[in-house]
Amino acid sequence: MIVSPSILAAKAETLTQECAALEKAGATWIHIDIMDGVFVPASTFGPDIVAQIKAACPSLYRDVHFMVDDPATYALPYIRNGAQSVTFHVENYDEATIHQTIAKFHEMGLNVGLSLKPGTPVEAVLPFLEELDLVLVMSVEPGKGGQAFLPSALEKIAFFKKEKEKRALSYAIEVDGGINAETGALCAKAGAEILVAGSYLFGKEDQTERVEALLHE
Ligand code: DX5
Ligand code: ZN
Repeated sequence: MIVSPSILAAKAETLTQECAALEKAGATWIHIDIMDGVFVPASTFGPDIVAQIKAACPSLYRDVHFMVDDPATYALPYIRNGAQSVTFHVENYDEATIHQTIAKFHEMGLNVGLSLKPGTPVEAVLPFLEELDLVLVMSVEPGKGGQAFLPSALEKIAFFKKEKEKRALSYAIEVDGGINAETGALCAKAGAEILVAGSYLFGKEDQTERVEALLHE
């Protein structure tokens, strides 16, 4: 299992130290949530955050999740600053523009993920599966941390696992929202390979045990 701590739950003043502590605890990825105040009501980090994390913890794989209206443009400064995996939303564009955006990011040497909101059916992602490095199943409504896990995500994870095996595809299955030891175990059982966790990990005394619990799902 890969653990990708979501920095949305970090304190701004100690963010890079907290990332370093989570890396020490066994996390190998870092999940950077970018919101533009349009696709979701909140807005978060500017592109500097990617450079700061790259400088402080260069070995953490920078998994950037764009909850923005126009990721094909919005993501560019974040990519220049060192994003390695770029995930955007299937709700962003029409089918042709999604194909083009995936190709554009691939040409830039990135891994590309596509995410779907809880209310979006799995069929929306089907036309893109062969092109993707990652499918990100949202198990909460995108926009903020600390929400309760929506069990409907489990069926979606199982669907993407079945489809991956059936068609011998290579995308990784990631799940995001409300992940803790219990929900993480359910997701692992359903086929998730990457667990994003924010409020479960940041600012916790027993961080190492918590990362380990998720790693061993
Ligand atoms: C939600 C973000 C998540 C969020 C997860 O919009 O995409 O990555 O930070 O936070 P927790 O783990 O607290 O649900
Ligand atoms: Zn996220």
